[in-house]
Amino acid sequence: MEEVNKFRVYKQRGRLYTKSITKNFSPFGEKVVRYKGNEYREANYERSKLFAAIKKGLSQTGIKEGHKVLYLGSSHGYTPSFVSDIVGKGGVVFCLDFAPTVMRDLVIICEKRENMIPLLADATKPETYKDKVLKSDILYQDIAQREQVETFIKNMEMHLKPGGFGLLTLKARSVDVTRKPKEIFNETMSVLKERYAVVDYRELDPYEKDHAFFVVKKK
Ligand SMILES: C[S@@+](CC[C@H](N)C(=O)[O-])C[C@H]1O[C@@H](n2cnc3c(N)ncnc32)[C@H](O)[C@@H]1O
Repeated sequence: MEEVNKFRVYKQRGRLYTKSITKNFSPFGEKVVRYKGNEYREANYERSKLFAAIKKGLSQTGIKEGHKVLYLGSSHGYTPSFVSDIVGKGGVVFCLDFAPTVMRDLVIICEKRENMIPLLADATKPETYKDKVLKSDILYQDIAQREQVETFIKNMEMHLKPGGFGLLTLKARSVDVTRKPKEIFNETMSVLKERYAVVDYRELDPYEKDHAFFVVKKK
């Protein structure tokens, strides 16, 4: 097991893993490898945009042990569960989704992980969960909606600490299905650059078609 860029993400034979903070935990059917007394869970980069970006050579995630993460669009908790390993027991991941159907599964995952907190809320209305989340070190967004970029900026402004990192997964087809994805990626880059330092950017094909991943730093 070899650590990738001090990300607390590990690599073995081209596959990516996190060191599990919970023994015998593989709720998504993921492979668990035992190595030097620890359990490592395999993160599928064809299922997680964060790990697709890492597979594509991402230089920085900004996510550190002990961090507070606000995760918008947590769905059933697949990627959030790996972020929960990365921040470790001293960190916390607020897992927000607006779909009651996915929330049921998410709550079951969160019950097994003390550092994951489920939140049923709409990411386009950041003021509605102001009293329920702590100021974050990391904002992660994966919501595949038309107003993805506007929602990201609103949450960056309200919920992220100065100096914190924002990780945006952008699905071009959700913004506008009639336009070329590259055009939407470029436009998003310009909008983000007006406010933040863009520290990395990856297009996620072939793992996620028409998706891009931005890492920005709040000043
Ligand atoms: C692509 S899935 C997220 C997958 C997840 N990030 C992962 O990697 O495991 C997108 C999720 O965003 C949620 N979503 C979309 N719009 C939202 C909004 N405005 N507020 C909260 N959640 C939203 C959907 O319900 C869906 O579960």
